[in-house]
Amino acid sequence: MQIPFVDLGSQYKQVKLQVFRHLDRLCKRGNFILGEELDRFEQEFAEYCQVRYAIGLASGTDALFLGLLSLGIGKDDEVIVPVFTFIATALAVSHAGAKPVFVDIDEHTYNIDIDKIKRAITRRTRAIIPVHLFGQPVDMQPIIKIADRYGLRVIEDAAQAHGAEYKPMLRRVGSMGDIGCFSFYPTKNLGCFGDGGMIVTNNKKIYRHLRILRDSGRVSRYIHGIKGYNSRLDTLQAVILRSKLRYLDRWNKMRRRNAGLYTDLLKGNRNLICPQEASYARHVYHIYALQIKKRDRVVSYLKREGINVFIHYPLPLHLQRAYKDLGYKRGDFSVAERVAHRIVSLPMHPFLKRYEIQYIANKILQLLN
Ligand SMILES: Cc1ncc(COP(=O)(O)O)c(C=O)c1O
Repeated sequence: MQIPFVDLGSQYKQVKLQVFRHLDRLCKRGNFILGEELDRFEQEFAEYCQVRYAIGLASGTDALFLGLLSLGIGKDDEVIVPVFTFIATALAVSHAGAKPVFVDIDEHTYNIDIDKIKRAITRRTRAIIPVHLFGQPVDMQPIIKIADRYGLRVIEDAAQAHGAEYKPMLRRVGSMGDIGCFSFYPTKNLGCFGDGGMIVTNNKKIYRHLRILRDSGRVSRYIHGIKGYNSRLDTLQAVILRSKLRYLDRWNKMRRRNAGLYTDLLKGNRNLICPQEASYARHVYHIYALQIKKRDRVVSYLKREGINVFIHYPLPLHLQRAYKDLGYKRGDFSVAERVAHRIVSLPMHPFLKRYEIQYIANKILQLLN
């Protein structure tokens, strides 16, 4: 049996009619840059995230990058970043001219280890970027407390966690920091047909600044107030995302059901650790990541059996060649290093069938037993 890692085709079937109708209308009008359709999606996404404002951008990386700029973070500043995340979190900091300072992760949630944040704070620290990795919300209350105490900004990287909830504050991710950053990369829980991103915020000043920053610094036609960027979310993508947003909660529920099935079938085996939903979190399982002993043997076996698995992520950021200049070495972040050796992501999407999950779990258990 062949089991793909994601299934964008089934998702497309569900939204095809609405998407076609809206695209047809857009194409007839020819409003491809900014405009009413983008405004509408921004309003709806802001509402969904329980915030006042949203700004559509060209990618999740740009959301982090322009978000940092909008908070005045740049040269000589330091920003705290978990060492185990997709590299874009750190790249945005570097491209803003600041220095990412890595912090190890918690072995169970895969998110930043909050107890280790204070040690990483210096006179130059300006912000913390909690990443809601794999769809699991970070424990935000203690992060906000640290940020308040040290006068730091909080930039939520919610690229993998659209719709995830942090129970103690009754909030959706993205709405608790100064800004929340999202990616609409096609395979994300809410994805478009290319690249796209979004910043959400309750701060009107930041919102106004970002609208200018993403649009070549334009304040009115051919009048430019700042040296801005071209980083608008394509209106075409906004139209697609508007249609898909209506399904997000349903799809997240289906992901949660699938994750529950995996866990029911796999838990209890002493050679693996299932992902754990923290008590404060409503996880949306962008990724279902297990830890397995002798991981590489399991990965080769599953691939041979037609099961498409991935490793998120094989190398923590401090060991990436791209970040050699920061001077970290092997052993500096022992939890992330250990997790990187053991972790494996199983197929995860809303349309996985029960029998597919059973097949995958059986194959894993057969090999481990
Ligand atoms: C945690 C995280 N941050 C940032 C990004 C960057 O988003 P994009 O690929 O849309 O630039 C991603 C995307 O994969 C991500 O997973």
